[in-house]
Formats: sequence, structure tokens, C-alpha cells
Amino acid sequence: MSAVERLGVVGCGLMGSGIVEMAARAGVDVLVREIDAGAVEAGRARVGSSLDRAVKRGKLSAEDRDATWGRVAFTTDLGDFGDRQLVIEAIAENEQLKTEIFSTLDKVIAAPEAIFASNTSSIPIMKLGMATSRPERVIGIHFFNPVPVMPLVELVPSLLTADATKDSARAFVTGPLGKQVISSQDRAGFVVNALLIPYLLSAIRMFESGFASADDIDSGMVLGCSHPMGPLRLSDLIGLDTVKAVAESMYDEFKEPLYSSPPLLARMVDAGLLGKKSGRGFHDYRG
Ligand code: 3HC
Repeated sequence: MSAVERLGVVGCGLMGSGIVEMAARAGVDVLVREIDAGAVEAGRARVGSSLDRAVKRGKLSAEDRDATWGRVAFTTDLGDFGDRQLVIEAIAENEQLKTEIFSTLDKVIAAPEAIFASNTSSIPIMKLGMATSRPERVIGIHFFNPVPVMPLVELVPSLLTADATKDSARAFVTGPLGKQVISSQDRAGFVVNALLIPYLLSAIRMFESGFASADDIDSGMVLGCSHPMGPLRLSDLIGLDTVKAVAESMYDEFKEPLYSSPPLLARMVDAGLLGKKSGRGFHDYRG
């Protein structure tokens, strides 16, 4: 396939907005789909505040920011995606919604060389592939939060993904986006979350049991192991709903107790304490 010039991104939340920003800054034309006008405005604000921050930090000129905006368009209709060469779906971890999106995109995009990708952390790529008539064109492209900062992308082919799809996806993320790639088999959690999530859940259990305070658990790993942030603050950054959803997918797949979600995590998600994005999680971000 020729280089991707027209990207579609479905979902402009924490991860989608980062993908939009990276791609548009790299000169790619990006069409973003959000669910309604309010979500479009929230997505636009997310991309805007990150671009403004880059300008303030001297990493991007004001002219380049304006040029970046010139390459981004929003829609609420997946039917507008007909000319997209690559679509990256980055909505919340909801298997039913994701399969519906893949099925719709399959009908909307006629070009046989188009690629359908998901930023899912944990849902089998095979299930998303089978929602289309061309699973050989479906692949996982898993970014890390914050997308503009983290250098890694996991590429996750399913059993049926074609080599040409893998090659094109790799060329896009290592070329314009400048990311480094590792490959993983299509197993819930892939490589990084399979290692990270049990660690985060252990920290939540430790806090839940009263073993230590949130600050001390986090400081322990920052000061004692040189992690950039502690496990509870990192859970807040990822979003507690996402941590829970990823853990549940991994538990469903492997039935290992180390992937089982602690009750406190479920209660916090029920309470809307989702971490940084909602203002409160294990730490308070409202100040
Ligand atoms: N967007 C763009 N840039 C950002 C950013 C954002 N949201 N957040 C931070 N940055 C940039 C800053 O501009 C700054 O750049 P500079 O040094 O060149 O000026 C740099 O990152 C450092 O930022 P800060 O000084 O504000 O803060 P920190 O030094 O504390 O770094 C952090 C913040 C980059 C988030 C760092 O704490 C970190 O790396 N944390 C770990 C993040 C991590 O592990 N992510 C993976 C999560 S797992 C995941 O996403 C998978 C999913 O499936 C669950």
C-alpha cells in the first residue's frame, strides 16, 4: 500500500486525541469521528490543549500548530470515512461497540487495500477481524498514554492478518509517527499490559488492605525503583475504568487470580472516581 495520507480515527478521548495530534503534526490528513457534537467539542479541546502546551514548551511553533489544525476535521458520521486508507479505532474497551464499528467501516470503505486497526488494550483482534469481511486487513495498533510522549507501539496481528497489513501498519507508526514497535501475539493484554496490569492491581490491593498510604506506595516505586510515577498515580493516568476493563478481559481469557479486579477498583469506577480524567482517583487532581 502507498503511504498513508488519509487517516480516520474513531474516538477522541485520552488515546484517540493523542493519535490525532501525532498524525496531524506529522502531516497526515486526519478525520475524527466522535459520537455527538458535545463529544466532538471535548475531543477538539483535548487536542487543542495538548498542541497549545507544545507551543508553550517551545516544541511547536504557532504556525505549525495552525497548520496542524488545518489537517484535522471532525464528524459524527462513520459514513464520511469512505476515502480513509487507514482507520484506527480508539473508543473505550467495549467489545460490542468495537465490533459494530468494524462492521460499519467494512461497509463504508471500499478500497481493498484499506487497513482497519484498533487501539484496544485487551480485546482479541480476531474478534474485530471477524466483524469484517476482510480480517486479513485488520490489526491491533496499541499506543501508550500519553501518546505524544511514549515511544512504544505494540503491533498485534491476528491469526488471519496479512503480512502486507503488518508491513503497512509498521511503516505508518515508525515513519510519520516516529514510534518504536514491538510485536505481540493476539492474547488479552498483549506484552505490556500482561506485565503491567498485575502490578497495578497488586498496588490497589495493597492500598485497599491498609498496608500503606497511596502516597507512600507511589513514592516507594518512584524513589526506590526510579519509575517515572507510582502505580496508583499511573492507574489514575490510564483511567480506572480502563484498568478495570483491561483486567477483566485478561481474567476472562486466562482465569488467573493475578488478573482479578480488587473490589475497591470496581467501587471507585461505580463512583465515577476514574482518575485524572475525572478529577479524582487514588489522588486528587482538582486543585
Ligand atoms: N501530552 C503531551 N506531552 C506530555 C503529556 C501529554 N499528555 N504529558 C507530559 N508530556 C510531556 C511534557 O511536555 C514534558 O516534555 P518536555 O520534558 O520535553 O518538556 C514531558 O512529557 C514530561 O512531562 P512533565 O514534566 O509534565 O511530567 P513528568 O516528568 O512527570 O512526566 C509522564 C509525565 C510523561 C506522564 C511520566 O510521568 C511518565 O512517563 N509516566 C509513565 C507513563 C506510562 O507508564 N504510560 C503507559 C501507561 S500504560 C498504557 O497506556 C497502556 C494502556 O493500554 C493501559
